[in-house]
Amino acid sequence: SLQQLSRVGVLVCAGEDGSRRRSRCSYDPGEIPSAHPNRPPPCREPAGSIHPDRVYLITDPAGTLCHRSLNPPRGSVEKPQCEINPFLPQPSTLKWASPLTDSASSPIYLQADWFSTALQGLNGQLAVSTITRAPTATKEHRVVLSVTTTTVSVQSRLGGPVLLDCGLWADPSSPLSGSGFAVEWRYQFRGDGRLVLAYDGKTDRLADVQEEGATLDYEGLHQRGNASLILREAKVRHSGLYICTVYLPYLVAQVTMELQVVEPPSLSIHPSPLPLAVPGQSFTVQCEASGFAPLALELSWEFKGTDGKSRPLGSGSLTGHRQAWDGTYSQSTRLELDSAELDLGRGGEVTCVAVHLGGTRRASVTLNVIGFSSPSIEDSMAMVGVALVLYGLIKFVSWTVTSSGSDEAGQREKKDK
Ligand SMILES: *[C@@H]1O[C@H](CO)[C@@H](O)[C@H](O)[C@H]1NC(C)=O
Repeated sequence: SLQQLSRVGVLVCAGEDGSRRRSRCSYDPGEIPSAHPNRPPPCREPAGSIHPDRVYLITDPAGTLCHRSLNPPRGSVEKPQCEINPFLPQPSTLKWASPLTDSASSPIYLQADWFSTALQGLNGQLAVSTITRAPTATKEHRVVLSVTTTTVSVQSRLGGPVLLDCGLWADPSSPLSGSGFAVEWRYQFRGDGRLVLAYDGKTDRLADVQEEGATLDYEGLHQRGNASLILREAKVRHSGLYICTVYLPYLVAQVTMELQVVEPPSLSIHPSPLPLAVPGQSFTVQCEASGFAPLALELSWEFKGTDGKSRPLGSGSLTGHRQAWDGTYSQSTRLELDSAELDLGRGGEVTCVAVHLGGTRRASVTLNVIGFSSPSIEDSMAMVGVALVLYGLIKFVSWTVTSSGSDEAGQREKKDK
């Protein structure tokens, strides 16, 4: 609650080596955190007025809290974000975490001041969640459990492997460490949550896997506290929030990260090539964008004349989105081209442009307009050229037909096609 938050003032982070850095994670007295529950309010430069009672010294033997992204130079405009709350240690009732409290840990150890702190470093470099402990009524906190991620926001192409980073660290000098831990990965998208996998450290095995192709690196987990989630093959439905929760007996901490599977569209234009056009003739060009995710796409047309100038032709008439079996989307646009009305001159290049999070894609077709109305020299020459080609073609066709004598066979073949 807000009252509890305002208990906490400045965090001073200290590495094991005694080096101290003043972290800018503080709340001004009376400051009200934003209404958005998932986003802690921005940290403020400690106002000079902060009462010494609200300054806590936190020793972090792992040094995570002293990361530079949490400790920007004094006066930086951008601030890390943080939220500090009192924490109440209690046994977990979760299936894969409850065995952790079977063996009696020192309950006296639990009688202390506990804080839970969530921090977000600059530029999404790092998110940390810690549980700290201070002997009752002292302000000398020590990190007992910290969970970190360096992949706060991840973009992945479709089909590739994905690594969602989650590291855990437990103070080896704490009686709560050494008797096992549990890890749970959950997925959330638009209020819809589900378990991805759960690891029971007591039995050292996966307690549950709900997502095919999701796995952990066991060796890394035991040796380095590397609880990263590996998804073998990114699918569109994997986009969303992932929560890595780590349980120690009586303690829990979690970090959240976002995965977005991004795939740019493939474009195809029909018909291609475009038929030769005469002024006044109108025809339709269609552009299909397919295989893209997420949904947001901007389709438009451009025309580049023989003079080299480009101009927009609008978005054409767009169809609705369709979703394919793999979750990717497709959308089309149809453009009515009236060669006279649009003043397309002698032609040029018609380009379909798709602007997407995964990148901008373009596909072009050449438009040839033969100007009968006011033929220029080039037009006349082009027409002569076309006539010559046609003449040659007719000659050639009649020659092959007569020489090979396969007239009938040829026609049958055409019909078959
Ligand atoms: C954690 O494990 C994964 C998979 O083996 C690896 O790619 C990643 O680099 C590891 N992270 C750290 C911080 O060691």
